[in-house]
Amino acid sequence: MIMQTKYAPITTLAAIVLATALFSGCGKSGGSSTSITTSTNVVASHQFVIGMSQCNLGEPWRVQMNADIRAAAAKFPELEVVFKDAQNDTLQQRAQVEEFVSAKVDLIIISPKEAQPLTEPISHAMDAGIPVIVLDRRLLGTNYTCFIGADNQQIGQAAGEWIVKALGGKGNVVELMGLQTSTPGQDRHSGFLKGIAGSDIKIIFSADMQWLEPKARQEMESALSRFDQIDLVFAHNDDGAHGAYLAAKAAGRQNQMKFVGIDALPQEGVAYVSQGILNATFQYPTGGADAIETALKILHGEKVPNEIVLGTRLFDNGNVNQGGQALK
Ligand code: FRU
Repeated sequence: MIMQTKYAPITTLAAIVLATALFSGCGKSGGSSTSITTSTNVVASHQFVIGMSQCNLGEPWRVQMNADIRAAAAKFPELEVVFKDAQNDTLQQRAQVEEFVSAKVDLIIISPKEAQPLTEPISHAMDAGIPVIVLDRRLLGTNYTCFIGADNQQIGQAAGEWIVKALGGKGNVVELMGLQTSTPGQDRHSGFLKGIAGSDIKIIFSADMQWLEPKARQEMESALSRFDQIDLVFAHNDDGAHGAYLAAKAAGRQNQMKFVGIDALPQEGVAYVSQGILNATFQYPTGGADAIETALKILHGEKVPNEIVLGTRLFDNGNVNQGGQALK
């Protein structure tokens, strides 16, 4: 039977209604995965149901976040996590949050696509007494229980400083930005400008590649056709840096420039650095395990901080074999 933290324990009938509501939502979003297998009994055997709304599963980093959440939650039999995939569609993600609220889940974890449009439905969840953990991308304001994520300003600035050093203080840079209606895209950009301030680095081309490798590749094709001298590409994620590398390679120019990304998944960005495809990447931890640890505390009535800032590491040619280096 499901126990609500703030409400009376719900009945088996209510558990069935909850499971049905969650299932039908999952069916609609298509391609979403859920650890609930088939019957309502599974739901009913867990004490707490967590609704997790993931903004998309088209990017490896988000697949990893869900895997980290699933692995951490598997250690606690009292937890059931229902995953929904918003397929990079803000309206769908809003609807998913609303479904979680009407299903009266015990807690919501959200990794939102965009800040502004997801702020209101999350406020409604909070008003309904459902605690919310916001992961990785921020909302507007602070009406949630806990935000967990790394410091994107810091990462952008560290990338800028690394680039100034790597280029000896001057050069032509292409910046391929993450979605500018999402906070990591905004913060990585402003941090980067700080990092290169006072140097002779010129941003000769910049574009919003919306975190997507094919879009980054396309933008890089434009940059290559316009500029003969490109010394470095800074992309706000490793997918973007890899897309740029592929465009440069197709033009036979990949050895004329450096490539820097962010995320540093072992099987993606870090592997690219080891293979000499990228020159550097900065780790952006998924926070999946931290979210489950924090969710448990909230569900058991413990106080948690309003904000948990995760650390980051730099991986470049000089340190990749030693496991990278923590940034201070
Ligand atoms: C995945 C992703 C990551 C990036 C993060 C920022 O959707 O684009 O590559 O670091 O989102 O929120």
